[in-house]
Amino acid sequence: MTTTNNNGHDSQLQSFFMTMLQEAYWSEQHLLNVLNTMMISATSKELRQAFAMHQQQTEKHVQRLEEAFGVLGAEPQAVPSVGMQGLFDDGWQVIDETEAGSANRDVALIIAAQKVEHFEMACYGSLVTLATTLGQKDIAKLLGKTLKEEKQTDAALTAIAESKINQKARKEQTVAE
Ligand SMILES: [Fe+2]
Repeated sequence: MTTTNNNGHDSQLQSFFMTMLQEAYWSEQHLLNVLNTMMISATSKELRQAFAMHQQQTEKHVQRLEEAFGVLGAEPQAVPSVGMQGLFDDGWQVIDETEAGSANRDVALIIAAQKVEHFEMACYGSLVTLATTLGQKDIAKLLGKTLKEEKQTDAALTAIAESKINQKARKEQTVAE
């Protein structure tokens, strides 16, 4: 797909930017369901709350992407992201492989969720940079807010892991041995 710039010329960079937006749109929409499953599967209240909060933020992330499409005069379109699909598959796998109600389940969920956050941070970081390059300051500002929230979520998950869950999981493993 190609887009047309203000001068009426097709730009490969703009086309690439549009594809990234479409993949982010697909990712965020699917993440809403994935976060719901992660929330239901989590053991600790703190982690369930963190997933619930990020689910609310993710709804905003979807809306911001729709705004970005609007600025570009394009219909929002979701294009599957192979990278994100792999990370979602990782998430399902850890739920299968860990025991419900265990701290080990939470450790595995946090790691799976942080992989998703880091992937999103890479995508939004690139989108903000590309938007700036293409002179789309409003889009850069809009997606910069999302980037900040992805970073905050990543930090919050680290704090939850370090507060007690990792230690609890370590004890579970000792008992099992
Ligand atoms: Fe997001």
